[in-house]
Amino acid sequence: MAKISVIGAGNVGATAVQRLAEMEIGEIVMTDVVEGLPQGKALDLMQAGAIMGYDTDITGSNDYADIAGSDLVVITAGIARKPGMSREDLISTNSGIIKDVAANIAKYAPESMIINVTNPLDIMTYVALKASGFESEKVVGMSGALDSGRFASFIAEELNCSRRDVEAMVIGGHGDLMVPLPQYTTVSGIPLPELLSEEAISRLVQRTVQGGVEIVELLKRGSAFYAPSAAIVKMVEAILKDSKRIIPASAYLQGEYGQEGIYFGVPIKIGAGGVEEVLELELSGAQLKTLQKSSDSIRQGISGLKL
Ligand code: NAI
Ligand code: 2OP
Repeated sequence: MAKISVIGAGNVGATAVQRLAEMEIGEIVMTDVVEGLPQGKALDLMQAGAIMGYDTDITGSNDYADIAGSDLVVITAGIARKPGMSREDLISTNSGIIKDVAANIAKYAPESMIINVTNPLDIMTYVALKASGFESEKVVGMSGALDSGRFASFIAEELNCSRRDVEAMVIGGHGDLMVPLPQYTTVSGIPLPELLSEEAISRLVQRTVQGGVEIVELLKRGSAFYAPSAAIVKMVEAILKDSKRIIPASAYLQGEYGQEGIYFGVPIKIGAGGVEEVLELELSGAQLKTLQKSSDSIRQGISGLKL
């Protein structure tokens, strides 16, 4: 039986735990700094199991010792950007949190793999790599699974077809310089450009890039968590079942896409070995230009880190 730990029992963390519990894919530990929060949610989720019909063991804890023996640790701890807070403030607060979390993962679960979710995603995944000291293929960030899910949902709505038939691809940093790739997006194998006009595609690309902000503006407090937790589960399942799925995610690049030593959203093969391969795609000039801007902004964020 696999052991999965989720650090941060907030919206994203607890919803991911709910989805994983319903799948009975492993024993789960959920931790948080707030006393009682993970314990209360764990109890609630186990009582839900009596009604929904699952037997997953869920432990809520404020003690990292409880993550010992984990195969996989998902990091969702941190704060979201609030009005008046600069991007640098967010980087500095969350990098402090991720440093502490990753050091504890290395101490108590040295054999585990890490999926980081905390924002700014590509920069915080870099912090998790450095603070854990893990091999880079064992540390990955969740970004493209969510962004491509959003793109797929908008495409299905536009075509009035099933979401299940859309396979979308979004790469680049998880931010407003992400790059949705219509030429690598298909509907039941049919390339998107054969189904939608350039105008429609560019409208949906723009909506995808703004996908997180659209939800923040509607929710007013907090950000998306149903689709993010679904994207986490897709990656957890691929690792634990060694299914070697091809999913866009934030991976440590060592020359691929002309990038060296940063985490960046690219299509990867994900399985029991973590990031088993980075797939390189041919891109248009405009897409390459946006990717370069995106990677420059990540590199700038990393340069200000105190590690
Ligand atoms: P939330 O505020 O609901 O939950 C965050 C939790 O982290 C809180 O319960 C808080 O007590 C806990 N926490 C703070 N410091 C901690 C520490 N040192 N150790 C353990 N727990 C700690 O936030 P939400 O909505 O769950 O989002 C979590 C993070 O995920 C944010 O940074 C958010 O921006 C990011 N996010 C990233 C996405 C992606 O695509 N990569 C998608 C959605 C959210
Ligand atoms: C999102 O894209 C906030 O990164 C988060 O919804």
